[in-house]
Amino acid sequence: MAIEFSERVARIPSYPVAGGYAQHAPNVRLASNESPWPPLPAVIEAIQAALPTLNRYPDPTNALLRGRLSERYGVPPERIAIGNGSCDILLAAGEALLEPGAELVYAWPSFSVYPHLGAASGARVVTVPLDAEECHDLEAMLREITVATRLVIVCNPNNPTATALTLADIAAFVAEVPRHVCVILDEAYCEFNLLDDPDASVELLDRYPNLVLLRTFSKVYGLCGLRVGFALCGSEDLPRAADQVRQPFFCNALAQAAAVEALAHQDAVTERVTRTIAERISVDERLRALGLDPTISQTNFCWFALGEDRDEAEVMEGLQQRGVLVRGGGALGRAGALRVTYGTPEENARFLEALAEVL
Ligand SMILES: Cc1ncc(COP(=O)(O)O)c(C=O)c1O
Repeated sequence: MAIEFSERVARIPSYPVAGGYAQHAPNVRLASNESPWPPLPAVIEAIQAALPTLNRYPDPTNALLRGRLSERYGVPPERIAIGNGSCDILLAAGEALLEPGAELVYAWPSFSVYPHLGAASGARVVTVPLDAEECHDLEAMLREITVATRLVIVCNPNNPTATALTLADIAAFVAEVPRHVCVILDEAYCEFNLLDDPDASVELLDRYPNLVLLRTFSKVYGLCGLRVGFALCGSEDLPRAADQVRQPFFCNALAQAAAVEALAHQDAVTERVTRTIAERISVDERLRALGLDPTISQTNFCWFALGEDRDEAEVMEGLQQRGVLVRGGGALGRAGALRVTYGTPEENARFLEALAEVL
């Protein structure tokens, strides 16, 4: 007889993980929006320096990291949450805010973890389709907010479509959301967004105590293997509630040390963003030359429809046979599209060559 699990477990969708992590072949990994560049030498040194103290638990208050983030963003440490990746904060927010009878609003297609929040809590999920440009339809999202709404998530720039809205649009939206509703602005890719200064959204926190800016060290900082993210919040409420529902010591000692060091190298962040944007321009141009129509990317990945006469699974298979791993839109909410991370110039050349052959 099989173990009997809760009804909740049957409801929760499995995260659509990218394939290829267990393979040892020198694949071109463009499936998970990672940084193609290794952590900076100074960050590796900071991790090594923390190794001898691993017999101790990590600082449960993440004081040093929150202090450095506080200095950088001008947000008091009490209004900063740290997480085992930003997903950890997202899931904790879901647990703290949602329950049967409550409502959660987000756009679709968007980040694959959002459906988990509704399923895990039993809250009613309202998904609002992206508009014709694959952007959030904020007016339609506003119309879905009711007295039962507890959480609205806006992913800007959006994963998987790579599109972004201007901060002016976001600010106008947040101004209209009732103050009892928590607004999470998921900014995992904000450093790659050229529409506005990535840090301009921080100013909104002084006006809107219900606003949460979700950020991560997984993308531009290249630390996804360690799992560390943070949230800058308009009040102390969400960090406090998130800590109530999570295990203690959720952010490990190496992740804290690495994140503190990584923050001190903003010149390297700028340099990596510049390199990524150069690749973005060149890859998108070459995709257009192949007759494809990628969206206007404000991220470290592109998104494009394959066209009606092409089969997503066949294209994915053809790319994989050529050692190139990308994500198919089917698993991300829109069949017949591909999401491809911009890698190094060599990786991108291999991807484009393989794609041209497969098409
Ligand atoms: C939109 C978005 N938010 C959050 C995350 C989570 O990142 P992490 O948990 O690694 O910080 C990702 C990762 O791909 C993402 O695409």
